[in-house]
Amino acid sequence: MRFNKSPIETMKKRQSIRNFDTQTIKDSHVKRIKEYISNEENLVGPFGSKGRIEFIQVTNNVSDKGIKLGTYGFIKNPQAYLTGVAQNGKYSLVEFAYTFQKLVVWLTELEIGTCWMGGTFNRNSFEQEIQLADEEFIPCITPIGYPNQKQRVFDKALRYVVKADNKKPWDKLFYDSTFEVPLNQENAGSLEIPIEMVRIGPSASNKQPWRLLLTRDRKVCHFFIEHTPNYSSKLGYDMQLLDMGIAMCQFELACKELDIKGDWSVTNPTLKLPNEHTEYIVSWNFL
Ligand SMILES: Cc1cc2nc3c(=O)[nH]c(=O)nc-3n(C[C@H](O)[C@H](O)[C@H](O)COP(=O)(O)O)c2cc1C
Repeated sequence: MRFNKSPIETMKKRQSIRNFDTQTIKDSHVKRIKEYISNEENLVGPFGSKGRIEFIQVTNNVSDKGIKLGTYGFIKNPQAYLTGVAQNGKYSLVEFAYTFQKLVVWLTELEIGTCWMGGTFNRNSFEQEIQLADEEFIPCITPIGYPNQKQRVFDKALRYVVKADNKKPWDKLFYDSTFEVPLNQENAGSLEIPIEMVRIGPSASNKQPWRLLLTRDRKVCHFFIEHTPNYSSKLGYDMQLLDMGIAMCQFELACKELDIKGDWSVTNPTLKLPNEHTEYIVSWNFL
């Protein structure tokens, strides 16, 4: 997969789209999307775990197979859905979300609207639509289509209800050397933009559970999750792990663009955690 524009600028522009134009997706776009999701490289996470993404065209929410795919009224005029398929494990979910967010940023570059959905869609009907192996399930989907420019009022109202524009400030998310010291934007050095991309990324119910800690020597950035207690437990998987993969993707895309070299590892650092809901996930090591 290649980006033509600046992923940083695209990530700044991206927002969830729930109202689509009635125009169908152009054939040339459908072709590129199908190529993208059939390219193995685009489906493998940083630690090698691989998921699937299926394209489902719809007309009035009904698929070619005649199955009605519902989103409880949250989404207007979707032209197709991209359905994610992964295994229900901690890192398989994190890695899958990393690949799915890359696709979302790539689609945003093509001016195709997306909305990550883990909850407000009819999982059963999507499960009927695609073939699932024993270990597989659907962690998320996104409707796609061209954004409906006229429906902005509805979108704005919904954004207000889900507090979509309510993104937490730096001092609630990022830490310097210990969890006792918030990371000052001015002290983040070259990492200011990659960290800012984490902050503006999408998250389930906009809970923004990611917590980053930059080490004193500035050689490592640790990624933690602060779980929202009981969130998504009814669904049988931890949806907030998806938010962590999204954070990794946003961070890495910005590092790549800024030529900041590094790689991911799981190191389990010994640090005093702020509370029992906080769990270590991954680290970015600067090369
Ligand atoms: C893992 C995940 C699951 C989500 N599930 C839903 C959903 O079920 N329904 C929905 O309307 N929005 C869903 N969203 C979209 C969020 O509400 C949205 O990303 C957040 O409010 C921030 O807004 P933004 O994407 O415009 O920055 C989900 C987002 C993520 C990352």
